[in-house]
Amino acid sequence: MFWMGIDVGTGGTRALLVDGHGQVKAGFTAPHAPMKMERPLWAEQDPENWWEAAQAAIRGVMKQAKAKPTNIKGIGLTGQMHGLVLLDENDQVIRPSIIWCDQRSQHQVDWINRVCGADNVLAWTANPVVTGFTLPKLLWVRDHEPRNFQKIRKVMLPKDYLRFKLTGEFSSDVSDASGTGLFDVVLRRWSKPFIEKLHLDASIFPSVQESSEVSGIVSETAAESTGLVHGTPVVAGAGDQAASAVGNGIVKSGVASCTLGTSGVVFAQLERAVYDPRGRVHTFCHAVPGKWHVMGVTQGAGLSLDWFRKQFAPNAEFDDLMAEAAKSPVGSRGLYWLPYLMGERTPHLDASARGGWIGITASHARADMIRALVEGVSFSQKDCLEVIEEMGVEVHKVRVSGGGAKSPFWRRILSDVFQRQVTTLATQEGSAYGAALLSLVGTEVYHTVPEACEAAIKETETIGCNSHDAAIYDRHYQVYTQIYPALRPLFGLMAD
Ligand code: XUL
Repeated sequence: MFWMGIDVGTGGTRALLVDGHGQVKAGFTAPHAPMKMERPLWAEQDPENWWEAAQAAIRGVMKQAKAKPTNIKGIGLTGQMHGLVLLDENDQVIRPSIIWCDQRSQHQVDWINRVCGADNVLAWTANPVVTGFTLPKLLWVRDHEPRNFQKIRKVMLPKDYLRFKLTGEFSSDVSDASGTGLFDVVLRRWSKPFIEKLHLDASIFPSVQESSEVSGIVSETAAESTGLVHGTPVVAGAGDQAASAVGNGIVKSGVASCTLGTSGVVFAQLERAVYDPRGRVHTFCHAVPGKWHVMGVTQGAGLSLDWFRKQFAPNAEFDDLMAEAAKSPVGSRGLYWLPYLMGERTPHLDASARGGWIGITASHARADMIRALVEGVSFSQKDCLEVIEEMGVEVHKVRVSGGGAKSPFWRRILSDVFQRQVTTLATQEGSAYGAALLSLVGTEVYHTVPEACEAAIKETETIGCNSHDAAIYDRHYQVYTQIYPALRPLFGLMAD
């Protein structure tokens, strides 16, 4: 018997099959068409294209595992967060989805704060509204495409569009709804006062469930187009970060995760919905009932290395870069890297921040420059950890995953910079894996999400911090944290 996790990512949709013990049996990714970036800061994708990719991924993974459709006992959904999907009265997509990384809506963010009061927004949703969230994107459509706005009957998130196509149900889950900016994260429901203040029609928003609850069953039509069986239960699922945290077992206090993909995310569970009054990290509902989570985001984590490789070492593999960086000593001989290649979320919340090496001298070599990239990104992830700790969250151990964490060299640096134990896991399948685990809970193979995680997730390696190197990094981190404030006045001027 199998359980399926489906992740509507940015680059593609991935379907994963696990067995009843949460062991991965097969995975298949169907790519999406490249996202449309018609203007700087804009990013759009076609929901119909996600649905096509999902059908291909579902068929692909079943073929790979030679799985009989009747043996698929449950499905969990996850996907890129914050994307705006709009349907009309005939349930047709009105316009392409404005996705998570689209930054066009600063004007709408300012308008919301003016009309509603930034303090009220924080009280209603536990987060300041930012351009990445869904709400300002919806208001951008209101302001720039009034005819499209008039047609809206349903607003949904990317994975919820997939649910709609699979089951016909119009619903979401608490973790993904948190990232709309219109959700009362403390009470785990849409914020009525906020919706009223904005004069929005409450009926255009989906019903909301906890992540492991069954939200519907695969419909007859969807069974035909996917090869699944009519009646297969589909659980509510979670936004990609919360699902990935489930896949990494971040469902208890004291353990955080650090995921080094294009961006870098530090994620910890919260027992209560505490939030940073400065909004430097997001506080959202977790995929575990009665729990919340906090996450800090470095926009340009793996991106820093990818950028370097493309520009200066196109023939090198990632491992070659790590080997070269290892030739430079701890601290990169006084060279620093600011990873703000796409502005920064945590801790600066500054779209105009810029990246760069600081402290370069004629004696620095390429190895120092690469090591500085790795250390700078690690310092930036430490910034996230520091904000999380300021909120009173204790972190003893960090589980690392994502492309960057594949390097033992980088894992060593993370442990010394964080001054924490750093562990790796046997399964590194991210969000789709978490979604599959949620479906195991929804179909009652396990009673709770932590129980499923306990049974399925195994640590493979733990490294402790080296106090000599940690002391050097500590001194360097003190310098690193002073570079951004010193340069901030100039970033605004550079943007012109
Ligand atoms: C989370 C975030 C990304 C997207 C795309 O806040 O912006 O993780 O969900 O993966």
